[in-house]
Amino acid sequence: MEGSAAAWLRVAAVGCAAVACAVAAEMAARRGMAWCRWYRAVEVVRDLEQRCATPTEQLQRVVNSLAVEMFAGLVTEGGSRVRMLLTCVDALPDGSEEGVYYAIDLGGTSFRVLKVELGAGSTIINQKVEHQSIPENLTKGASNDLFNFIALALKNFIAREGGEDEGRPLGFTFSFPVRHSSISSGSLIQWTKEFSVEETVGKDVAQCLNEALVRNGLNMKVNVLVNNTVGTLALGHYYDKDTIAAVIIGAGTNACYIERNDVIVKSLDLLTNTGQTVVNVEWGSYRPPQIALTPYDICFKETRSYYDQGFEKMISGVYLGEIARLVFQKMAQVSDVFGAAAVDSLSTPFILRAPYLAAIREDDSPDLREVGRILEEHLKMQDVPLKTRKLVAIVCDIITQRAARLAAAAIVAILQKIGCDGTLCGTRKVRTMRGVRERTVIAIEGGLFQGYAVFREYLDEALTQILGEEIAATVSLRVMEEGSGVGAALLAAAYS
Ligand code: BGC
Repeated sequence: MEGSAAAWLRVAAVGCAAVACAVAAEMAARRGMAWCRWYRAVEVVRDLEQRCATPTEQLQRVVNSLAVEMFAGLVTEGGSRVRMLLTCVDALPDGSEEGVYYAIDLGGTSFRVLKVELGAGSTIINQKVEHQSIPENLTKGASNDLFNFIALALKNFIAREGGEDEGRPLGFTFSFPVRHSSISSGSLIQWTKEFSVEETVGKDVAQCLNEALVRNGLNMKVNVLVNNTVGTLALGHYYDKDTIAAVIIGAGTNACYIERNDVIVKSLDLLTNTGQTVVNVEWGSYRPPQIALTPYDICFKETRSYYDQGFEKMISGVYLGEIARLVFQKMAQVSDVFGAAAVDSLSTPFILRAPYLAAIREDDSPDLREVGRILEEHLKMQDVPLKTRKLVAIVCDIITQRAARLAAAAIVAILQKIGCDGTLCGTRKVRTMRGVRERTVIAIEGGLFQGYAVFREYLDEALTQILGEEIAATVSLRVMEEGSGVGAALLAAAYS
């Protein structure tokens, strides 16, 4: 008996050891698998980082090629990936404008109605701006519905302000590509950003608004139709005559600048009193050949139409959050870092807006609390561990950095076009000898730029890397609060 009990115990002991070994092996295998899955998520981020790298030499090539496209766009209509649209604005407000003017600013789903009271000597005595959201159905519905909505908003605004509409000139900021036939008229070439009211394409948008004003019983008429870049330039110039260009980095991105008529070859008969014209670059449609698209770039999935806003989709607010969502979706597909529920919540397009991306990147709490809150509230991901939250923040950083650096390259391309990037002007001493301007001011506006400090830091850093410290010091980006709308009111005054 004793012998068999001992044998049994021996068997049991061997059995236990075998089980323990099996359990340990199973745990090790699981740990190995978990590590493998985590590693796959890390790999997605590492791959993104490599694809989004924009070393300074590459940015310099983007500068050169965009500047070449800008030249080409001035030579022939349709001869370039940037449209270089003539705006019919040949003179900018100089500070002598006086009186009360109204403006409408339509550029994204939040639009504005403005009343601006001007006094002599570049003084804005009073300024009232009302923001309104455009219901989503109007951004894709019938043209008349959209313009009726805008006209009615203006009518109610004027009534609330106790003002009168009788024959008043109206500034209309319309932030989409328009082919102008005069300062107060122009046909829509294509919708961009969140809008797709197909009926309006090809129509004179100022006339669309004028007709809606009449339908709504308002006795007003659009006297200037401007892009938001042009409005921003107008306000910049109103305050500072060294302002030669304006840039928007918000829901969309674009720039305009003051060009000499004699280099606008595609329109050599262009006669203006000043010999200059403001050109709307429409750089959003540029596709830099030096920058390979990542599988997450939104333009990647679309038909490669010639003007598909490829540059805008890498830089501006409507798209950055969406690129991040697509990266997170990939991470969730190859690993379980976000938990099982994530695959569903991450499949909703445009669920992650740019302000959340900014808040994720700017969360500097040690446990990334804000990142956790945004993932939980907006992407329905519960209890995401800290190490995954860190990966999420890195993804947002990579996307932000590429966007800001490309925006910087585009700004330098404008400077190169007008000979202020140092390549033509040389050092400060040579610039002074040649009488080249010592100071270049660029007016800038847009929610992404104004509301996202890290974006601004990356952009400034890239400007200095491309231009060199000496030239960079002569360029100042000056934020023009509500510039696009207030500038339209200023132009309405200047051209009335
Ligand atoms: C439009 C431009 C506009 C820019 C910034 C782009 O989508 O095409 O006209 O200036 O957005 O709002």
